[in-house]
Amino acid sequence: MELIKAVFNGKFDSLENIKVSPFSRAYTFSDSIYEVVPFYNSQPIEYDKHINRLQYSANALSIKINLDIISDEIKKLISSCKSKSGYVYYQVTRGQDPIRSHIYSNDVELETFGYVLPHTFETKFLKIMICKDLRWGRCDIKSTSLLGNVLSMNEAKEKGCDEVIMHNDNILTEAGASNLFFVKDGDICTPALSNNILPGITRQILIDTLSAIDINVYEKDFTLDDLTVASSAWLTSSTKGMAPIEEIINLDCDLILNDDKYLIAKQAFDSKFFN
Ligand code: PDD
Repeated sequence: MELIKAVFNGKFDSLENIKVSPFSRAYTFSDSIYEVVPFYNSQPIEYDKHINRLQYSANALSIKINLDIISDEIKKLISSCKSKSGYVYYQVTRGQDPIRSHIYSNDVELETFGYVLPHTFETKFLKIMICKDLRWGRCDIKSTSLLGNVLSMNEAKEKGCDEVIMHNDNILTEAGASNLFFVKDGDICTPALSNNILPGITRQILIDTLSAIDINVYEKDFTLDDLTVASSAWLTSSTKGMAPIEEIINLDCDLILNDDKYLIAKQAFDSKFFN
């Protein structure tokens, strides 16, 4: 089996050689942020948007990062990958504590970690479970604190599903590892950005691509009732691209896969994402 290429604190190595201290704050507190940067034809997709979001997450945690070094490492990982399509996972952790403490010291040294994996962006048809959003109040930060997502997605898996769609008091937020879109009365809709939603790069690519062909995406608060009357729905993410939903197991709705608006959006999206 080919060794996975990785970088830890600036040193390139295979993943199996990387050693992390148990006092890494990634390990004890999830005091870390991350990005997943997809690439196709060996070129990163919307690279600047990913880097800007990493900076946004770092600012939210008051972590100082060096984007030149990080960019260099991500690009080296992409060019070291045997496959021309895949993604880089890149994580920045506040650093190690000499002893576990909730209050961090300002002079801990950052810990950075990245690896690259081949990935084919095949369109998958998704089976979904609706669930309550169990997560904290700053889901706009791409942090590694993902326990709410992990618990819900594994409950969904036990019920034969691939993903969840979450809601707070009936207001739709997003999926466990993707953003939500649906078509209602012929309009393409997606929950508006807030502290409860990750500002997905793929979400933004789709909105911008549709806007360029004069199709508006309605961004506001939507409820479970709105989803119930949707004619089609899909999820977006850096690893899924645009993935249609074929069934929601615990919502009485009637989704179709060949809805006109979905097909137009999918064609426009694919030609932008894989250009
Ligand atoms: N997840 N919402 C959540 C909670 C996510 O974890 C993700 C991405 C998205 C979509 O964001 P983007 O389009 O920028 O990938 C939305 C990544 C892929 C992951 O954690 O593996």
